[in-house]
Amino acid sequence: MAFNEKFLWGGATSASQFEGGYNEGGRGLSHMDYIRRVKKADKEKVFPINVTVDMFEDHKKHEDEYNFAFRRGVDFYHHYKEDIALLGEMGFKTFRMSISWSRLFPTGLEEKPCEDGVQFYHNVFKECHKYGIEPLVTMIHYEIPVYLTETINGWESPKMIDYFLHYTKFLIDEYKDEVNYWITFNEINMIMNSSYLGGGMFVEKSKKTPEACIHQALHHQLIASALTVKYFREHTSKGMIGNMICRLQNYAYTCNPEDVLATQQQSQFNYFPTDIQVKGTYPTSILNYYRKKGIEIDWYPGYESILKEGTVDFASISYYHTAVISAEPDKAEPIGAFIRNLENPYIKMTDWGWGIDPTGLRITLNDMNDRYGVPIFIVENGLGAHDELTSDNNVHDNYRIEYLRAHIQAIKEAIGDGCNVMGYTPWGCIDLVSCGDCQMTKRYGFVYVDADDEGNGTYQRYRKDSFYWYKKVIASNGEDL
Ligand code: BG6
Repeated sequence: MAFNEKFLWGGATSASQFEGGYNEGGRGLSHMDYIRRVKKADKEKVFPINVTVDMFEDHKKHEDEYNFAFRRGVDFYHHYKEDIALLGEMGFKTFRMSISWSRLFPTGLEEKPCEDGVQFYHNVFKECHKYGIEPLVTMIHYEIPVYLTETINGWESPKMIDYFLHYTKFLIDEYKDEVNYWITFNEINMIMNSSYLGGGMFVEKSKKTPEACIHQALHHQLIASALTVKYFREHTSKGMIGNMICRLQNYAYTCNPEDVLATQQQSQFNYFPTDIQVKGTYPTSILNYYRKKGIEIDWYPGYESILKEGTVDFASISYYHTAVISAEPDKAEPIGAFIRNLENPYIKMTDWGWGIDPTGLRITLNDMNDRYGVPIFIVENGLGAHDELTSDNNVHDNYRIEYLRAHIQAIKEAIGDGCNVMGYTPWGCIDLVSCGDCQMTKRYGFVYVDADDEGNGTYQRYRKDSFYWYKKVIASNGEDL
């Protein structure tokens, strides 16, 4: 049997895209509550997550008119019992979710948390345990209280480290008996692709260059993560805590050594936060890059020992697609909101232009297994697709089954290669608002949610064909694909 008995099958969500209830229970607004979908002209690429100061001001001015989809999510806040029952029916072993910082500490500065928020997560964990589901909790999935964006420019400020620790120490103390698996930051490397999304900040406001501002903020996040890990070790006797990056396996466009070199450099960039979080030091290649580009980091006092003491128990990744890299950057086209890429003639694309590459997952797992020697957790993967609810309330999503089957097969093969993979939680197990496009039209779930991009709909949940298929996969521990 490829998957061991403890393999954590499940699915993943994030508070901002899933939870809703943005103005209930005393919750404060988060910086993601100010991202909105913008209609695109044909072929025009508009990425709602790249919010500038001007856009932010405009969003505030038109607060009551604009459509802020992250505020609604898919209303897990009111559906959590029904939703977790559906996950239980599929046989989930784990459920990845995140906590909304501003639901507990509305501005990020409060000494004491908001009691309604604290209780909400107790209720959610209790419901999970009812079905034998282990919560896998991301402490921060991008969103920060918007007050911190407005007053201190988010993660650019070192003050964020103290505010974050106040929040994460509370999470550990309050929920340690109910939660065994934690992730500090979702996709900590994404700040390099979207500074507003990943940093809750505006690079235009910084005295530093945009790139230096981003790397400074990332430094603060790495310190905040390491100090959280250290606290977790000192104050718990069980459980595991991990990091996470958006993993991109890069392929060279040609065997021209210049393309191969460019590919290696991209990979160093993709890996370096995990290098730091697993090994406890900045890799020389990155320090050298800073030196060459004149990027001066204000190093946090004692950072070297903090990073060493705060290394993680497991390394987790999101894995959606691979990228093709050329030494001539102008050749590349953006994929989605984030990544520049060239077409790969060997793989098919999703409707959103993301390359479908299960073998790339096997390559990635092998690469990481050798590089880090800690368990690897695939905490996001999946197919964002157009789904159609039939008149008898079914969704025939064979395309999703095919995608997931091929990726699970690749994990199986990687385990056969000797990789230590601890679990698999496909993204958006219940449909939710897409992050990069801020829309409902792009769906990932095993469960269909009746809601559209404008927020219209009954918000009722319907099982898709993939729901029954995944249930069978879990029941057979990955044998019956
Ligand atoms: C990951 C994020 O990058 O990709 C999720 O952690 C996100 O928040 C997921 O939803 C899929 O991206 P998208 O843009 O299709 O929602």
